[in-house]
Amino acid sequence: MGILDGKVAIITGSAMGMGASAAEVFAKEGAKVIIADFNEEKGRAEAEKIKNAGGEASFFGADISKEDQVAALVEFTVKTYGKLDVAINNAALTPDDKPIADFDLNYWNRLLSVDLTGVALCMKYEIRQMMAQGKGGSIVNVSSVSGIRPQPGNPAYIAAKHGVIGLSRSASMDYSPHGIRVNVVAPGAIDTPMLRGALEQFGLDPDDYAKKLSLLGRFARAEEVAQAHLWLASDLSSYVTGAIISVDGGYTAM
Ligand SMILES: NC(=O)c1ccc[n+]([C@@H]2O[C@H](COP(=O)([O-])OP(=O)(O)OC[C@H]3O[C@@H](n4cnc5c(N)ncnc54)[C@H](O)[C@@H]3O)[C@@H](O)[C@H]2O)c1
Repeated sequence: MGILDGKVAIITGSAMGMGASAAEVFAKEGAKVIIADFNEEKGRAEAEKIKNAGGEASFFGADISKEDQVAALVEFTVKTYGKLDVAINNAALTPDDKPIADFDLNYWNRLLSVDLTGVALCMKYEIRQMMAQGKGGSIVNVSSVSGIRPQPGNPAYIAAKHGVIGLSRSASMDYSPHGIRVNVVAPGAIDTPMLRGALEQFGLDPDDYAKKLSLLGRFARAEEVAQAHLWLASDLSSYVTGAIISVDGGYTAM
């Protein structure tokens, strides 16, 4: 018996990184998982990996910043597995690297369209489906410690990740009467391609930086974040909505 037995979950941005790890953990716990990502090659490979390990997963190619593709994603989920119980809205673009006086409007618009508007679009169609089913549901939106305690030099990412928290709290109020819970996971420094890319971009030494970013002196493994998603997705967290769970090795407590 897994704690997600019988549940159907969409995980966006699950071709790699934390999303892929969450998909593997969810499938092991009995969920049927939709790998939703615009990286078709890696997304299909991740769905195959889960199936080869005995789990249930299907890939759907979607760019979450495009409304028609998000609507099609939810439609595909229901057509494939009959319903939608859980959504982990995790896909995002890598942080920008210039303070506001130097920022590039095109990059700002692109990042916001994925990291904030993309989450809103996903919730729009996920919530409509959950309301139509009439049995509630659980949505987890992925923010960041940057949504709580910003670092210098990423104004677009920081604004988007603060926005994800506001958007989630707003949805938790509007849809709690329907039994739909909406929570936020705010990861700290997690060892994924996104983090490695950002360290390289800013010329930072990984060992040095890990000590500055965590009371535990190391980066997290992606599975450690997946465990927070798992709990929030499951009925074990049935009284939790509108919450922000930091998985950051104590960074926001420093
Ligand atoms: N890695 C970290 O240290 C860290 C820290 C805090 C928060 N986060 C957040 O956690 C989440 C996952 O981060 P990660 O490090 O695993 O990222 P990653 O870059 O390793 O993976 C992101 C995935 O999202 C997909 N994606 C990006 N834009 C998309 C779009 N428009 N439509 C569909 N798919 C899209 C990518 O193809 C990729 O598979 C993100 O929301 C990120 O902002 C990461």
